[in-house]
Amino acid sequence: MSNCHKIHILPISLCSLLHLEDLNLSCCYELQELPEEFGNIHGLRILDLSCSQLFALPETLTNLTNLEHLNLACCISLEMMPGYYGCLKKLKVLNISYCFKVRIPDGISNLCDLKSLLAVGLYDLSGSNMDDVNCVSSSIHMPKIDFEEANLDSDFDEMLKHKKLHLVGIDNVQNIYKFEKFALHTHQRLNTLRLSTNYWYRDEGANIVPGNVVLEKLIPPRTLEHFELSGYDDSIFPEWMLKLTTILPNLVHLVLTFVKCDHLPPLGQIPKLQSLVIESLPNVKGVGEVFAGGSKPFLKLRYLNISDMPNLERWLTKISTSDEVESMYVFPNLHHLKVSQCPKLRFEPSLPECFLLEIDASDEILLGQPKTPSQSHPMPTRRIKIDSCELSSSGGYQLRLLTSFHSLKFLSITTCDGLGSWGENIGALTSLEVLELSFCDIPRFLGRIRSLRRLSIHMCHIPCDFPQHLLQLSLLRELWMVRCEADFSLPSETTRANLAHIPDINLYFVSLLSISVVSFCFI
Ligand SMILES: *[C@@H]1O[C@H](CO)[C@@H](O)[C@H](O)[C@H]1NC(C)=O
Ligand SMILES: *[C@@H]1O[C@H](CO)[C@@H](O)[C@H](O)[C@H]1NC(C)=O
Ligand SMILES: *[C@@H]1O[C@H](CO)[C@@H](O)[C@H](O)[C@H]1NC(C)=O
Ligand SMILES: *[C@@H]1O[C@H](CO)[C@@H](O)[C@H](O)[C@H]1NC(C)=O
Repeated sequence: MSNCHKIHILPISLCSLLHLEDLNLSCCYELQELPEEFGNIHGLRILDLSCSQLFALPETLTNLTNLEHLNLACCISLEMMPGYYGCLKKLKVLNISYCFKVRIPDGISNLCDLKSLLAVGLYDLSGSNMDDVNCVSSSIHMPKIDFEEANLDSDFDEMLKHKKLHLVGIDNVQNIYKFEKFALHTHQRLNTLRLSTNYWYRDEGANIVPGNVVLEKLIPPRTLEHFELSGYDDSIFPEWMLKLTTILPNLVHLVLTFVKCDHLPPLGQIPKLQSLVIESLPNVKGVGEVFAGGSKPFLKLRYLNISDMPNLERWLTKISTSDEVESMYVFPNLHHLKVSQCPKLRFEPSLPECFLLEIDASDEILLGQPKTPSQSHPMPTRRIKIDSCELSSSGGYQLRLLTSFHSLKFLSITTCDGLGSWGENIGALTSLEVLELSFCDIPRFLGRIRSLRRLSIHMCHIPCDFPQHLLQLSLLRELWMVRCEADFSLPSETTRANLAHIPDINLYFVSLLSISVVSFCFI
């Protein structure tokens, strides 16, 4: 069942297939929940849940006593794993690579048949006693080596034992001859490498070797899947960083942070690149065709995180190619786009289409061109989260752009001005099922979102005609109001009777502002 993009919740009936042995739900991007009954599928040996939206796994998962292979890779929302693993006696392979949020429960050390725990891209398996897990390969451990203190000759042998390596202090190298025998690229076991500056200590002496000279000597091996460069003060990258497509053809995940260069290297043609984080590059003003590096760029890219780029103004999302008349989109398979603290950024000609779009303190983005309607796009935008943006300028331009996301199912808006002026066109969001509002105005035509099933309002001022809106929302199943001030009296007998179509109403700390208005607005 892999690539079934529309599944949200697995039907319970599937859990009665007790003898099912191999279930593949990989790339079911929308899958958010497994039923509690999942643990009934006792025959299951192979379970692939990679690249889903799962937030938690049911505790009953550990009833699957025959499970041998569990793939959770790239479940970027996954936070909760079951606490107890006593019954998973046969589990041999557990892949939690790129599950950035996951906390590994201690119970995992009971998995004594586990041959490999794959955790590419995770450095810090916090909260776990990994040292106790003697049956798990040592690949979890990430040794940290400080250039200042390291004796590269002897420590290098130690490094060769590991798959992960963190080299600290690349900005504080005083003796480049240390590198004479240090050939990082021969270290063929390495899959994860992090190069960082020493944040705490910096020698201001004159003998510091320039960053590009140091980085030039640190060409990683071709085996690398995960590479992070954190802190680089030079204005140009060394030669090999401009040829990553050939130097690191196996790269899956790339992070560039605190880099002073004014251009991004060409990254679009790295064949396996799935996830890219670009953070704190204050000198980058624009990203254009060079970044794509040729035609059909970023075919595998699913996750793009752009944050803290105060001067970034323009990012090209469509390129024209010489051999084809048609131009093409730069991120054809994006799953999750997160932009934060990029106040001047606009995507040109339009925002990339992706399942989950998160915008935080990046005001200009919604002033771009509305996207051209393309029914056939494989990744229609289903979820949008906006935090700390101005939505009220330019005659409602941003709100109109938001309204153009016809496939939107989930919208969360926090601390944004201007929602009160959202016009009747809000009704064009015909797929919207969940709306979460915090610290904002209530849209005047809220009642037009007829498809709404869940409405959650936190710390907002509720206008007196609000109950009328609720009456129009005939599909509403769940209402939450927390710490709000309301201009009407809640819940009187009449109101309650009229709102009987909402089975689940939750009100906490809702205070009544003024009794006098009540009579005018009462339903
Ligand atoms: C699940 O299906 C995907 C896509 O067809 C495939 O790449 C992957 O290897 C399968 N997983 C397992 C565990 O066989
Ligand atoms: C399945 O798991 C649940 C919770 O983890 C437990 O209460 C239950 O007894 C288990 N059932 C079987 C048949 O093992
Ligand atoms: C584990 O997941 C990562 C990331 O998707 C992948 O590169 C790797 O091949 C997987 N390993 C296994 C054994 O499934
Ligand atoms: C992505 O950006 C956010 C800022 O919104 C940051 O906090 C987060 O750590 C980044 N994610 C990754 C995987 O680096």
